[in-house]
Amino acid sequence: MNRFEIAVIPGDGIGNEVVPAAIRVLDAAAEIHGGLSFAWTHFPWNCEYYLKHGEMMPQDGIATLRNFDQIFLGAVGMPNLVPDHVSLWGLLIKIRREMNQSINVRPAKLLRGLQSPLRDPKQFDLIVVRENSEGEYSEIGGRIHSGSDDEMAIQNAVFTRKSTERAMRYAFELAKQRRGHVTSATKSNGISHSMPFWDEVFRQVQQDYPDIQTASTHIDALAAFFVMKPHIFDVIVASNLFGDILTDLGGAIMGSIGIAPAANLNIERKFPSMFEPVHGSAPDIAGRGIANPAGQIWTGKMMLDFLGYQELGNLLLDALEDTLEAGIKTGDIGGRANTGEVTNAVIENLKKRA
Ligand code: NAI
Ligand code: MG
Repeated sequence: MNRFEIAVIPGDGIGNEVVPAAIRVLDAAAEIHGGLSFAWTHFPWNCEYYLKHGEMMPQDGIATLRNFDQIFLGAVGMPNLVPDHVSLWGLLIKIRREMNQSINVRPAKLLRGLQSPLRDPKQFDLIVVRENSEGEYSEIGGRIHSGSDDEMAIQNAVFTRKSTERAMRYAFELAKQRRGHVTSATKSNGISHSMPFWDEVFRQVQQDYPDIQTASTHIDALAAFFVMKPHIFDVIVASNLFGDILTDLGGAIMGSIGIAPAANLNIERKFPSMFEPVHGSAPDIAGRGIANPAGQIWTGKMMLDFLGYQELGNLLLDALEDTLEAGIKTGDIGGRANTGEVTNAVIENLKKRA
């Protein structure tokens, strides 16, 4: 029996509704498997915690989290109580950086039973591998002459060989287990230093994977292809900013932000990785029991995959699709079920497929 210690941070708003739902599903999946179990330890770190203690997590929070196998997070943010940059940088971004979660993985797939906003989509199933530690999101730069005619702001992008290569190798390894194709998101026609460097590293890494097909596509065209023909993609590797934008688009073409899953991976497995859906705390619907648990449940599947239980992960996604196909869905995707009803149905369908 493999037992995994998971740190749970439900966070704010609907995080407190979808995280318990996904935990029920993961426990049911573990029981069906018979060879694994989860020990969940909850941490109440969120905006209310900040109002009481003046910080999003205690000083030794990172040290505490390091003792866990993985982190399962809901969403962080209550903009009417705490400014977003305080809550996000104080918890989420802090964890990503301190745990060296250098790769952000976000799949987008046309699920059975879901209506994509695309008019007539062919079956698509893609994964964006986003460099999660540097690139355009650097802290290097500054502003001078504020408020005057000479005012200016400079923000430097940082691309190191180490992090660029790490993201690309991860993408190639992933493609090996999938359909054998990697697309690099570039913009070397316009950005004349960092993107030619990005292309060069891509060509070098490619040499080590002769069986993988590749394409190098400018980010503007790539964004258009996500809408026109997303089915042509398998794995896409992108810088921090390009990946951020592409993955929102990926969520959009699936049909709802409430569906989209994500994983922040420490691929060296020295520290825990963090699994959190793409959506936020949805203050507009929080507390009503109507949040879509699908994004958090699919995020749980990504955690199963990363722990080495891919078959079980696939079973979980199948059960989620069975549920959507049966029309048991929340309001954001055109249904009338609540969070609990969707969760119960996913568990029932898991048992049926087991
Ligand atoms: P949001 O994702 O919370 O909500 C956007 C819209 O989508 C809302 O209308 C909401 O009701 C709906 N929605 C989102 N998830 C849903 C779900 N599971 N089921 C049904 N409907 C869902 O984004 P918003 O409103 O911009 O941000 C709210 C707060 O969340 C802010 O404080 C923001 O900073 C934070 N946030 C946190 C993230 C994280 O923790 N990773 C990511 C994005 C936003
Ligand atoms: Mg984003």
